[in-house]
Amino acid sequence: MTDSERPWYLDDGEAPEGERLQKVLAQRGWGSRRACELLISEGRVAVNGEIAVLGRRVNPDSDRVEIDGVAIGVRPDLVHYLLNKPRGVVSTVHDPHGRQTVVSLLPPEPAVHPVGRLDADTEGLLILTNDGELTFAVTHPSRGVEKEYLVHVSGRVSSGNIRRLREGVELEDGRTAPAVVSQPQPGVLRITIHEGRNRQVRRMCAAIGHEVVRLVRLRIGPIRDSSLSPGQWRHLTSDEVIALSSASGVDRYAPKA
Ligand code: URA
Repeated sequence: MTDSERPWYLDDGEAPEGERLQKVLAQRGWGSRRACELLISEGRVAVNGEIAVLGRRVNPDSDRVEIDGVAIGVRPDLVHYLLNKPRGVVSTVHDPHGRQTVVSLLPPEPAVHPVGRLDADTEGLLILTNDGELTFAVTHPSRGVEKEYLVHVSGRVSSGNIRRLREGVELEDGRTAPAVVSQPQPGVLRITIHEGRNRQVRRMCAAIGHEVVRLVRLRIGPIRDSSLSPGQWRHLTSDEVIALSSASGVDRYAPKA
């Protein structure tokens, strides 16, 4: 008798906690419930680091589920996209001026919102999701999630000015925190910041007398991808969602002690 065939009258009367593992796996696209029961009985599924047995229930909000050692997300209701935002597209859900928005580049359902903003003229990686907790964590300055940019500026930047960018420059909303800055080529900077103030990179460069000619975001915390062409998107993998959650202090997927 498989777990799903077990009649209700054999249950012990206690209200069970969580959802049956095979149901959660089936919802995540791992096959029928019977096929997922087979995965479990073959010992290929682990929950919080322990091989699961048939009958295991999981809490979709907090348990870490792995198949063949690869973590899967257990929140089938959440979607996380990684988009390479093209220049000229706005990072809002709706634009009153009728410009193209980032959400128009993605499937219409489920509704998602951008995680933070890139200026219309900025290109590069942008995450869009319906995961409110992760959005808050990735964008909140106190969580310190790094964002790395490739910045083409007018003219070569002197070593003195690179030092100023590294140490922090005075902006109208206060001094910037120390940043990681290098100049791999004259006039091209790599800048990593973790504050995410409005137009921060452009204003930092303006403060040292250089105009930004092109700005591309290369990395959001642990997430990078140089293979997406402008306008192209993909789903974040479960491992990436877990890595981003952990980098931003969301412990939803952390293994239980
Ligand atoms: N800094 C900026 O100035 N603009 C962006 O879009 C992102 C970071």
